[in-house]
Amino acid sequence: MTARAEQVLVDLGQRSYTVYIAPDLLWDQSSSGLTPLTRFVQGKKALLVTDSNVSGLYAGQVLSVLQAAGTLSAECHTIPAGEEEKTFATVEGICRKAAQLGLDRHSVLLSLGGGVTSDLTGFAASIYMRGIDFISIPTSLLAMIDAGIGGKTGADLPEGKNLIGTFWQPKTVLMDVNFLRSLPPSEIRCGCAELIKHAILFDAELFQLLEETIGDLLRLNDPDQTARIIARSCRHKANVVSNDEREGGRRALLNFGHSFGHAIEKLLHFRMSHGDAVSIGMVMASTLAVNLRMMKETDALRMKKLLSATCLPLNCPGLKAADILEAMRGDKKNRNGKLRLVIPRGIGKAEIQEDIPEDMILKAIGVHCD
Ligand code: GLY
Repeated sequence: MTARAEQVLVDLGQRSYTVYIAPDLLWDQSSSGLTPLTRFVQGKKALLVTDSNVSGLYAGQVLSVLQAAGTLSAECHTIPAGEEEKTFATVEGICRKAAQLGLDRHSVLLSLGGGVTSDLTGFAASIYMRGIDFISIPTSLLAMIDAGIGGKTGADLPEGKNLIGTFWQPKTVLMDVNFLRSLPPSEIRCGCAELIKHAILFDAELFQLLEETIGDLLRLNDPDQTARIIARSCRHKANVVSNDEREGGRRALLNFGHSFGHAIEKLLHFRMSHGDAVSIGMVMASTLAVNLRMMKETDALRMKKLLSATCLPLNCPGLKAADILEAMRGDKKNRNGKLRLVIPRGIGKAEIQEDIPEDMILKAIGVHCD
């Protein structure tokens, strides 16, 4: 494996795994074939699941890498791209393909793509033959920062997003920063929203680094620096997951901006991207935090400035505050009918609050709507 790969451990006892992050991670010739893949796929049947956007770009190369790593067989299954494909029928399709190819309990499913592909493939891996090995190869920044690690798998129901799924940790996660080159700028921006989220929650220094380098990051000017920033962000997520795998407590902090954001996405019938909705949600939460005197206005301004510099939206024209609040009541993170919100206490610190008066929430939402 390339000597300059960043490594992040997700520490879960016997189910611990390492996330590798580097440009040219999968194709580096200096590796002499000793990529982390070999350990997990040698002598096994492998099924690589990818989507119709990614398939033509990278699937052939990844299949060659799998063959070079000594798989017994390596086949590809392509699912149509898009959130509307995130259904149980697609999971069944993956499992049926695995069965047709004769995958057994010792075989391995790999995902190559964004969050939808990794959620669906992880879900299939967790139920096929009562659970087989899973390896995640995220290709979007959003999947590298968020969905690619932590073991949440899932599919949507007509009744709501991610209503079915499992916790199923991968054996390893391979993040090749060069995959990001084929993404449109809007996708990089969306990944940055989750990156900024981790900085606001846990890491004031990372926030400052992003303030100084966001332009380079958006243009992917320095792949090694991009790998270091992704690794720093992943370390925070790994730390949270290691201590609260099943979201009994601290993992819920990762929902910062998401209660507002999911409501906005739902009301706009998912025509607004997740990253854009989370950006508006984080701004709403920061306005609420300032009104509650839990965050300094200067910190909220820094947040907004960084989100703007990332070309992320701060406001949500066209929606009514009361409708957003109503949609937030359906959030599956709520407890006993009470809204649970992540409130920033500054840059690098946040907490979960359950008892915020609804008129305060409505007022904060209203500042950022028509
Ligand atoms: N996407 C939030 C989490 O993994 O918990």
